[in-house]
Formats: sequence, structure tokens, C-alpha cells
Amino acid sequence: MRPETLAIRTQTERTGEKEHSTPLFLTSSFVYDSAEDMAAAFEDDTLDVNIYSRFSNPSVDEFVKKVCLMEGAEDGIATATGMAAVFSSFMTFVSAGDHIVSASAVFGSTHAILTKYLPKWGIEYSYFDMNKPETIEGLIKKNTKLLYVETPSNPGLDIIDLKFVADICKKHNILFVVDNCFATPAVQQPIQFGADLVLHSATKFMDGQGRVLGGVVVGKKDLIKQMYLFIRNTGPSLSPFNAWVLSKSLETLYVRMDKHASNALYIAKKLEGHPALSWVKYPMLESHPHYKIAIKQMSNGGGILTFELKAGLDGGRKFLNNLTWLSMTNNLGDSRTIASHPASTTHSKLTQEERQAVGITPGLIRLSVGLEHPDDIIEEILGALK
Ligand SMILES: Cc1ncc(COP(=O)(O)O)c(C=O)c1O
Repeated sequence: MRPETLAIRTQTERTGEKEHSTPLFLTSSFVYDSAEDMAAAFEDDTLDVNIYSRFSNPSVDEFVKKVCLMEGAEDGIATATGMAAVFSSFMTFVSAGDHIVSASAVFGSTHAILTKYLPKWGIEYSYFDMNKPETIEGLIKKNTKLLYVETPSNPGLDIIDLKFVADICKKHNILFVVDNCFATPAVQQPIQFGADLVLHSATKFMDGQGRVLGGVVVGKKDLIKQMYLFIRNTGPSLSPFNAWVLSKSLETLYVRMDKHASNALYIAKKLEGHPALSWVKYPMLESHPHYKIAIKQMSNGGGILTFELKAGLDGGRKFLNNLTWLSMTNNLGDSRTIASHPASTTHSKLTQEERQAVGITPGLIRLSVGLEHPDDIIEEILGALK
């Protein structure tokens, strides 16, 4: 079966109730038939039995299995949030004295982990510019353990050639970790290009309706085994209820991503050349600086586009205030179109230079294009620009 079908047809084994839709295993622990079975469950780590939902739960396992099938991964593990997926990946694979090479254009909280928390435990980092991949190799040191990228990045929509970076990582025996949250496995499968671990904030397009938080990491079996032990013991586990919601959502991920992308491309094309804007950025616009890489590794451009208002910071605030129904919120990947102005909100605490370094210009508007009729969306945006 193809991944589109597997995302719909992969399901926990049907129970005696003969349910059609997948059941929810809302339970913290599981029972045993005998004291011997219970002892064996604790003694032998390789037994396929559920013990406690911090380590395994059928609803969580179903969600993870689907993501593995969609990403082409051997194994996976779920986490309570996307940030728990990022943090667990770092904590499992780096130790005091190690070094991480990362793109500077990463989500704000990932930037905080790299710059504020990991240095407290003696883990150093070096940033590279996504627009200068030729500088990556020069940053690698003897103690470099892990290389981290987001592509497309949030919110700058920078794109990096996954195969190019994977080859460098292989050459230097470094773990290559990709945050695939903006593309989703319906659009891009980084493992195919050589990534070792792929992680997601499932809170975004995977959920698709802005309801629950979640995260997931997939990759090689031996790497996931190490992450399993970290998560089992430290507890950033996904709740069965959230996993059930997310697993149902994956059934529609492919059709949703197609529609998010066709709406986004339609809007991006309509906005290109608008007199109030300096530029419009979307991976599948030929004007995107990394368009050639995008068409090589993405099946469509995803649901996020950005544009720069000539009127700058004040223009950004004014644009948001002029919206009548389009949502003003910092989430993304929802069926509802969302506008945000990073310079006056999520990234307002950074200095102008720090914002510039990650591509956040004063008038940058990030649009998470939803599933509404594209003409309604563009009319709303053009009205606000006017
Ligand atoms: C690219 C990216 N990675 C990770 C995260 C963190 O995910 P969560 O909010 O589920 O912790 C986000 C959240 O916006 C994100 O955009």
C-alpha cells in the first residue's frame, strides 16, 4: 500500500467490540494475568507488552507507526510537544564537552535551548547561515556530534539541500537531525535524502485544527531505542488522548496538505508585485531564492507563506488590526488561515540584529494558509493591505 492509504488504514488491532474507527486507550497502566507475567514484563525489555503509558500505549503506538510509514522510518517515539521532541533529541545524543552545528534560522525555543540551556551543561553550538551552506563544513570540530536544521525554516522559509547536508554529516560521522514540521511527511521525507532523525511539532499541520499539542521523532531503530530509554525515564511522553486525535488527523494529512499548498500558491501569486509589499516568499514561487532545491525535495510548497510590508513595524501592526475575520494567533498549520507579525510579537524581545540574522524583517507577515476558499482569503488580505 502507498503512504496515503497506510495513513488511513493503519490501526490498532480491532477489539472484541468490532469498532470501525480507532478506539482510544485512555488508561495510565495495564494489567497482567499473573504475578509471573507481571515480573516478566519488567524483567525482559524486549517483550511486546504494555506496562505504563509513560512508556507505551496502543493509541500512542498507532500514531507513531503511521508517522514512521509516512516518513519511511524504521522506528519512532512520540513526545508531549514539539519542543519535547527537540530537547529529547539533544539530551539523548549529546554530552558535556560535545558540540552542535545548527542552522541559525530555527524556531525561537530551539534557539533558546541551544544558546541558553545546553551551554549550562557544557554543550557548545555554532550557527550557520541557511543561505551559505558552503560554510557548514568549516564549523565542524572533533567534538561535533549533531547537525540540526529546519527546512523550510520558521518563519524565514529558508530551504536547505537535505542531500548536501546529509553527505557532509556522513563524511564526518555526525548525526543529522531535521525538523520537518513545516513540510510534513506528506510533502517531504528527509530520511530519503539521508537524515538520521526527523522530528515534528505534531501540534501544527499533523493536528491540522489547532486542538492538541504533540511531538514525534522517527529514524533508525538503534537511535530510537536510545531515545525511548531517555523518554521512558524522564517522562515527556505523549498523552493517549492527544495521540488518538493526532492519529485520526493523519488520515486526512495528504488531502489537507494538497489544499493548504494550492491555496498558498494561489495567494502568493496574487500578492506578488502588490505595491504595498517589498517581496512575497513561498517555496514554489520561482522568485524564492531556493526554488530549485524546493522542487527537488518537496512535492508542494506547504501551507506557509511570508511577505514584507513596505510600511515596516507599524505597518505590520496596522495590517493585523485591519483584518476582519482572519485569525490573529501565533499557532500555524490550522484549517483556519492565521496571520502573525513576528517582529512585534513572538520575536519582539530579540534585538534588531538578532531578528535580521534569522530573516525576521520589521514588516514580515507570516501567513499560515488555511482551507477556506482561496478567494475569501485573498479578498481579506487585499482589504487589510488597502
Ligand atoms: C518548526 C517548529 N519546531 C518546533 C516547534 C515547537 O513545537 P510545540 O509548540 O509543539 O512544542 C514549533 C512551534 O511552533 C515549530 O514551528
